[in-house]
Parts: sequence; C-alpha cells; structure tokens
Amino acid sequence: MDKIIIKGGKKLSGEVEISGSKNSSLPILFASLLTDEPCEIKNVPSLADVDTTINFLNFIGKKTIKTGNTVNTFVSKKYKHVAPYDLVRKMRASVLVMGTLLARLKRVDVSLPGGCSIGARPINIHLEAFRKMQVKISVDEGYVKLSADKRLKGANIKLHFASVGATENILLAAVLAEGKTVINNAACEPEIVDLSNFLNKMGAKISGSGSKRIVVIGVKKLSGTSHEVIPDRIEAATYIISAAITKGEIVLKNAAAVHIKTVIEKLKKSGLLIKEMKNSIYVKWVKNLKPQNIKTAVYPGFPTDVQAQWMALQCLLKGSAVIEENVFENRFMHVLELQRLGANLTIDGKKVYVKGVNKLSGAPVMVSDLRAGAALVLAGLAADEKTTISRIYHLDRGYDMLEKKLRKLGADIKRVHA
Ligand code: UD1
Repeated sequence: MDKIIIKGGKKLSGEVEISGSKNSSLPILFASLLTDEPCEIKNVPSLADVDTTINFLNFIGKKTIKTGNTVNTFVSKKYKHVAPYDLVRKMRASVLVMGTLLARLKRVDVSLPGGCSIGARPINIHLEAFRKMQVKISVDEGYVKLSADKRLKGANIKLHFASVGATENILLAAVLAEGKTVINNAACEPEIVDLSNFLNKMGAKISGSGSKRIVVIGVKKLSGTSHEVIPDRIEAATYIISAAITKGEIVLKNAAAVHIKTVIEKLKKSGLLIKEMKNSIYVKWVKNLKPQNIKTAVYPGFPTDVQAQWMALQCLLKGSAVIEENVFENRFMHVLELQRLGANLTIDGKKVYVKGVNKLSGAPVMVSDLRAGAALVLAGLAADEKTTISRIYHLDRGYDMLEKKLRKLGADIKRVHA
C-alpha cells in the first residue's frame, strides 16, 4: 500500500489552486439521475470518492464520463433500483441514491451503510423524512428497502438534527414529489446551496436554501443543465493551516473565503495575517500564534471537517487550547497518532485538552479517516525529521493532488509504493 513520506521543517510559500468541493460534487452527481437529459458538471475534483460515485451512476444505468475536471452524464438506460453493499460500503454519500431513485422509480433497495471510524452515522433522520413523504420502509438481509405506491407526496418535515445528508436526500426526493415540501431545521452548509442551485437550473423550484427553512414545490420533470461546482472549503482551510503551521506565506486561488468565515476569524484572532479577495485568499505568518479554543457545530459554526487539522496546529502553539467535537461522537482517532509525534493531548469525553509543545518529531503514523489524515500531513510538515504516513487511501478520498500541491509550495513530500 502507498505511503507518504514528509521531511518537515520547510516554510510553505507560493500559490495553490483549490479544487472543486468534494461534498458538493457527490450530491450533484447523484442529482443527475433525476433527468434523462445530458448534464455537464464542471470543477469536479479528481478523488477516489468521485470515481466511486461515477462507477455507482454507471452501475445504476446513467452513462457518466469524467474528462479532466468535467463530468458529463448522458441519456440513461433503464435504472437499476438496487445499490449493493460493495458500492455503499466504500462511501457513505451513496445513501443519496435513496432520494433520487425514490423520485424516479418509486423504489430503491440500499445496503445499510453501517458505521465508520468517526462514528455510528445512522440514517434514521433520512428515513423519518421519507416516511413523511408516504414512503414504506423495511429492512431485509442488510438492505433498507424503500417504496411508494405512487409519486412521492410533499410533506412538512422537521429535522431533529440539521443533517447535511438528510437535507440533501429530502431535496433530491422532493423536487419531483407532488406538492409542497418544507424542511425545517435544514442544514445550511454551502454544499446544500450548491446542490439547490444545480437542481433549480434543472427546473426545480427550491427556495430558502442556506437558511433553516427550505421550501420545495414539486415539478413533474427536470431537464439537463450545466453547472460549476463551488470551491472546496475544507481543502482551503487545510491549506491555510498549512501556511500557519509552517510559518509560511501562501495564496489560495479559486477559494471562497466566505464559506470558511469561522475558521478565518479564529486564525486572525490567533495572529495569522489573512486577506480575503474575491476568488483568492492571502495568508502570511507574521508572529507566534496564540492558541484558540474551538467547538465544532453545524454551519456556520466551526466545521467538524477542520477539527483534526485545527488540533494539529494547536499542538505547536505556546499555551493551551480546548477542542470540543459536537457533530460526530468518535472523531478523535487522530489524537493517538499526533501523540506519537510528541503532541501533548488529553481526551475527556467530547473534549481534547491541548498543551502546546516546542516541537513535534517525525515518526511512522497511520491514517484512520480523511481529515485525521490531513492533520497528520500538517503535523508532519512542521515536525523535525521524517514522518511516514500509511493508509493514505483515506486522503485520496478527499484531497486532489495533495503531494503535488504541497510540493509546489516547497514541502518535502513524496508518495512511495510499498
Ligand atoms: C456530511 C459531509 C461530512 C461532514 C458532515 C458534517 C458529505 C459527503 N459529507 O456528512 O464531510 O463531516 O456532513 O458536516 O457531504 N446523523 C444521525 N442520523 C442521520 C444522519 C446523521 O444521527 O440520519 C448524525 C451523524 O451520525 C453525525 C451527525 O448527525 O453524528 C452529522 O451527520 P450529517 O450531517 O448527516 O453528515 P453527513 O451528511 O454524513
């Protein structure tokens, strides 16, 4: 299996191009199932999760081709209604096939996604919402089977937690349902707005996306369209932190500062110089940074997907910080690995207490999940000597050309085939 080897201590400098958002691309690709007309989706990153989604769509019956960063979907064959374990286990976002196939076929059997290393990640919120839309649900041989006698019915839905995936699944089902659907306590993430913009371009009638109350008026048919995916805000935050942790100076191109305001505000408070331009972000380390506490929360709160990277940075700051994880129940897998590099961290329930150390020292470490991997790369960039990171397939799920981009910024990083 491939490994990444980093020799730390280089100050990063130069320009880095931010790729399209993974978490926008996946639901938008699934949304293309809602029409038989061609769709063109631009600024799609080259990632394992995108490949998995494309294979998934081809399996279901949608001809889908990626050329560079553009994905084209073509006239479909008759869709299959079964999403087997082999496809679903690779990527949790596969559950988005529920909303789309319910809308198109009125039935879908999806292998239950199960847990993952960052928590149990059930789909009860998705299912409760579908039930309100007159969907019958049963579980049989590891599959959740959903069906409706006729066109799905619009409903008044209140989410007890503003789940991103559930909001997306409901949108995908509601756009072709009969009548009006209201989602209360909807997720407000920029990826929800991007998906809604794509669906509205297809002819859907969605209003209120980006707020806690989304209203969808169902239509009978959707058409093909062209769309450019928004920049990846989590990738952007990761590169900003890479400049902070290596005391560097970088410019992020094609980045949307407006989507990571909470992260930027915290870093500015810490003492990092950040200038937000229209499509780019300038970052410069000018003085020793002060540690900052964070509590993860749904958007616009501090993103759980940046919690691990934030911890890597705090490890090297003089003083102490408390990091609280409120979105996932088991998202501290990186703590043990950061400790192997010399970090002083104590877990207490959903909090981690960080005491800054003068230096981290390179060591062999293992990635447990995507963002934990990003934290280890950041720590490795700042650590003395050599850090060898294994199980990097997690990183390939979410970071487009990671080593290439970091090398261009001056990092000593390479991938080896072990
Ligand atoms: C999406 C993102 C992921 C991000 C997360 C939170 C994608 C592909 N992934 O994941 O990167 O970390 O949002 O911002 O966009 N929950 C339930 N029942 C449900 C659904 C969720 O209890 O039916 C819980 C989960 O276990 C978790 C929390 O709600 O603890 C957040 O999950 P959710 O917002 O649904 O995240 P995802 O859509 O899976």
